[in-house]
Amino acid sequence: MKADVLLGLQWGDEGKGKIVDVLTPDYEVISRFQGGPNAGHSLEFNGKKFILHTIPSGVFRNDKLNIIGNGVVIDPVIFAEEIQALKNEGISLGRDNLHISTKAHLILPTHRLLDAASEAAKGRSRIGSTLKGIGPAYMDKTGRNGLRVGDILRPDFMDRYKALTRKHRDLLSMYHYQGAQDDYEKKWFGGIDVIRRFTLVESEYRINELLNHGKTILAEGAQGTMLDIDFGTYPYVTSSNTITAGTLTGLGLAPSRIGKVKGIFKAYCTRVGSGPFPTELQDAHGEFLRRQGHEYGATTGRPRRCGWLDLPALRYAIMLNGVTELIMTKPDVLSGLDHFMVCTHYRINGKVTGQLPYSLEENIEPVYKRFSGWSQDISGIRTYRDLPEELKAYKSFLEKETGVPITMISVGPDREAIVKTGI
Ligand code: GDP
Ligand code: IMO
Ligand code: MG
Repeated sequence: MKADVLLGLQWGDEGKGKIVDVLTPDYEVISRFQGGPNAGHSLEFNGKKFILHTIPSGVFRNDKLNIIGNGVVIDPVIFAEEIQALKNEGISLGRDNLHISTKAHLILPTHRLLDAASEAAKGRSRIGSTLKGIGPAYMDKTGRNGLRVGDILRPDFMDRYKALTRKHRDLLSMYHYQGAQDDYEKKWFGGIDVIRRFTLVESEYRINELLNHGKTILAEGAQGTMLDIDFGTYPYVTSSNTITAGTLTGLGLAPSRIGKVKGIFKAYCTRVGSGPFPTELQDAHGEFLRRQGHEYGATTGRPRRCGWLDLPALRYAIMLNGVTELIMTKPDVLSGLDHFMVCTHYRINGKVTGQLPYSLEENIEPVYKRFSGWSQDISGIRTYRDLPEELKAYKSFLEKETGVPITMISVGPDREAIVKTGI
């Protein structure tokens, strides 16, 4: 068997949580391969809304195995809070249905302080980080200083923890950072005890064995391609590889073990945090998208910046990820617009190009194509033929432009609000 991958093609928040939940019945195992609690994956069903940060979005379906891969960074406090919140809803996770890689790195309380200190020091050029300690934790991973889940089983765990926090304290004093720690450290060790309650495994072996035994696996990405550490809008990115390649290193899969790559994109674009966003709308249309789409961060509550779909960026993401099928979300948000726009090319210093330049901070003027809108509410539609002709025309245009079929169109936050296109 091969593992299928599901990931975001824009700047995150494309609706990955919802779509993983929709697809989970087709899989036996759901596995997160990178990122950490900077992610906020929302799911809605039976009138309830859930937001997951570290735990794979398959947990709401029965009899699934959920695996947190080695590429993920875990904050034990947030992890324990998620476990508790799920328990309150009657979802009980234990050794049987939640496995955690021993090689996943831990986010320490001092990583959060370092994140805050680093952002404060950057001033106006700050990244707009979620301040969950992601950057500092991955820095310690690549700097070969990090603490991993497997270390909590070692007798000298406390010594290792103390040695690393001492290093962090020295760094913090260089920043002259005054931030308080409150009782986070105490909660952190409580969270470590919660992690111990699950199956801690060399998940690269487990995942490959599962595939050898014919099990179906869906790898769930976090963030989006334009936030990838190598190919995103650097330095305004996250600290991991969010693209398909991240599945290989984040789960221990060989390239030949990747099957379908399902790329999710919104019918428009959003971005939260700083950094270039060529199609951003700072007008009534932008306000319309934010209001209609409830575009506020699932992790931080910050208003998301909104703009029209950026095709050069989408084509770039499809190329980098080897996307085999596309899933469109949130076209229902466009309902009521007389028309909407799609950026097909960039004009840079008078030259028109379909490719992304070295930096999107360059003076980019989007070249737009205008599309007719539709007035009806489409959130109750469940069959493709009932969708407005204008949306079908938009879909066909995007398929022609990208060369990739759109297999599903999501028309609302609920798990039932999905239209299969029949491809
Ligand atoms: P993720 O990080 O990719 O999982 O996405 P988020 O959960 O951060 O943000 C997506 C938001 O859009 C959430 O509030 C979802 O409930 C909501 N959502 C997902 N799909 C749709 C859709 O098709 N239509 C509408 N209106 N909302 C959606
Ligand atoms: P999901 O998985 C949207 C953004 C932050 C910031 C930059 C770096 O829900 O799609 P970090 O905390 O990683 O240091 O922040 O990346 N960012 C996200 N934006 N969705 C996310 O995750 C994000 N995770 C990080 O806003 O600009
Ligand atoms: Mg999100």
